[in-house]
Amino acid sequence: MLIGYGEDSHRLAAGRRLVLGGVEIAAERGAVAHSDGDALLHALTDALLSSLALGDIGALFPDDDAENRARPSTDFLERALAEVRERGYEPQQLRAVVVLDRPRLGPYREAIQSRLSELLGLEPALVGLTFKTSEGLAPDHVQARAVVTLVRRGG
Ligand code: C5P
Ligand code: MG
Repeated sequence: MLIGYGEDSHRLAAGRRLVLGGVEIAAERGAVAHSDGDALLHALTDALLSSLALGDIGALFPDDDAENRARPSTDFLERALAEVRERGYEPQQLRAVVVLDRPRLGPYREAIQSRLSELLGLEPALVGLTFKTSEGLAPDHVQARAVVTLVRRGG
């Protein structure tokens, strides 16, 4: 069994989209980013890559490359998944934490859980999501952390 861990954060600003786990969130402010700024998918992508010491998201998709501008973060995730699957591993479980003061993410829990389970090929019950406020310590940021376990296919 392998363990992967990743983190990501983005600054929040008006006039930007807020996308988390591939789900569009209705919000006054969104993530400032080169891509769509999906901190949850970025943390998950880094977690997958870290499980086999494959570097990180920026090594695969440089943020100074125009091709990556406004790229859906599902592209990053698909690539990381392909890298681990090529090496014979399959995601087994995911636990993720999102820290965001506003808006409340509770109403989006099922949508995010279902999207992530679909993207990873996992049962929704193995996609544990925790939402936290920063208690006002980081009101201008969205942060995500993700831990994944992977198992060797057929083993
Ligand atoms: O951070 P705190 O412990 O105060 O969060 C309390 C509750 O608020 C938790 O149940 C959490 O699921 C929810 N929450 C949320 N959306 C956020 C932050 C927290 O639904 N952006
Ligand atoms: Mg990011």
